[in-house]
Amino acid sequence: MITEPAKMSNLELQDRYTTLTNHYERFQQQNLKLNMARGIPCPEQLDLSAELLGCLHDTDYTAADGTDCRNYGVLDGIPEARKLAAQLLETSPNQVLVGGNSSLTLMHDLFVRLMLQPLPGNKLAWGKLGNVKILCPSPGYDRHFAICEYLGIEMIPVDYLHDGPNIEQIEALVADDESIKGIWCVPKYSNPTGITYSDDTVKKLAALPTKAHDFLILWDNAYNVHHLTDTPAPLADILTACSQAGHPDRVFVFSSTSKIGFPGAGIAMLASSERNISWLKKQLAIQTIGPDKLNQLRHVRFFRDRAGIEAHMKRHAAIIKPKFDLVLATLKEELSGKNLASWSSPQGGYFISLDTLPGCAQNVVAKAAAAGVILTPAGATFPYGKDPHDKNIRLAPTFPSMPELKLAMQLLALCIELVSIEQELEKRRSAKLAVHDF
Ligand SMILES: Cc1ncc(COP(=O)(O)O)c(C=O)c1O
Repeated sequence: MITEPAKMSNLELQDRYTTLTNHYERFQQQNLKLNMARGIPCPEQLDLSAELLGCLHDTDYTAADGTDCRNYGVLDGIPEARKLAAQLLETSPNQVLVGGNSSLTLMHDLFVRLMLQPLPGNKLAWGKLGNVKILCPSPGYDRHFAICEYLGIEMIPVDYLHDGPNIEQIEALVADDESIKGIWCVPKYSNPTGITYSDDTVKKLAALPTKAHDFLILWDNAYNVHHLTDTPAPLADILTACSQAGHPDRVFVFSSTSKIGFPGAGIAMLASSERNISWLKKQLAIQTIGPDKLNQLRHVRFFRDRAGIEAHMKRHAAIIKPKFDLVLATLKEELSGKNLASWSSPQGGYFISLDTLPGCAQNVVAKAAAAGVILTPAGATFPYGKDPHDKNIRLAPTFPSMPELKLAMQLLALCIELVSIEQELEKRRSAKLAVHDF
């Protein structure tokens, strides 16, 4: 039987619609309450770091340089935490700053500072320029877009290719427009597409000729060590690439241990040129008398070094890889050959990116919600929440249990088929093609 709605006769389409509607009603009767909206670790993943809670004792509070971590001070983080962060970000400790628990806070605060204060070598802060634009490879991370929207920064969507954002499109945009001040990048296992930027993409971004002399790369390496395979895709070092291209101050790198240890109580890190770091430290001194150094010490005691983190991440992968596999297998079982959707098969990170037929994503998400499965809102992965083709849905497989995931994916596939058929029926109705059959 042909199951692609566009190729079905009106009668076949109506029959299939009735069958699927019955299935859907059975799902509704199960009163499901599943949430697949956000990429958060499941309790078993959090249990992996249980010892983080107790790995300091009552006399263990002194950092390597003698700092009493219980007290105020040390704006940029204790030396051993900066060393660990430098290993993770593949740079030197003097180019690193370790902050509180959230890299998103570091990003938000950097943007607010840029609005209020000029970067070194600049005369005016962004807030004084009238018009500031940021390039947003999309689909992308909704919270990046929220920062821009909150601050009134105009977002320009940029398409993704298989190895990163479309560089030609970026080159054309930044060549003549001085108000384009930067680009958001999630370079490894991108949220939500799963893409890792190729060496060529990294090199071209670092060397990009831009009209704005102060163009910035906001490099959010949130999924740096979050591999799902034993042969992770390498990512070129953007800090070195920018220095070699003659733009040492162009990049701010962010990361955190949120999805390594505890998302609510990790350590966040930022790397940039020494010049930018010293600019930031001056500003930080106004905001705080110092970060939570005991938490930094705890992380160093527990993870020790990059090798310790890599070993730990393998234990995460053992828990979540089967969940990714289950989602992919269920999507394949339910949807392959129907030409109704395509999806990514990520090698790491926290998400699967699914594209429906154009014009269907919002209705699919609404239908799934009406049967008890909450997905990330359609459109959230695009600037201003507007997916121009209304087709992208971000799936977050890590939190639900395996049986819940299976059910959620079966329901999702059902909703995709139902909504696609509804759209096809509507198309035929409005083209008056189906007049004789209804
Ligand atoms: C790309 C990306 N950056 C940052 C974050 C949040 O990081 P943090 O917990 O360090 O604020 C997330 C969380 O989902 C993310 O996907």
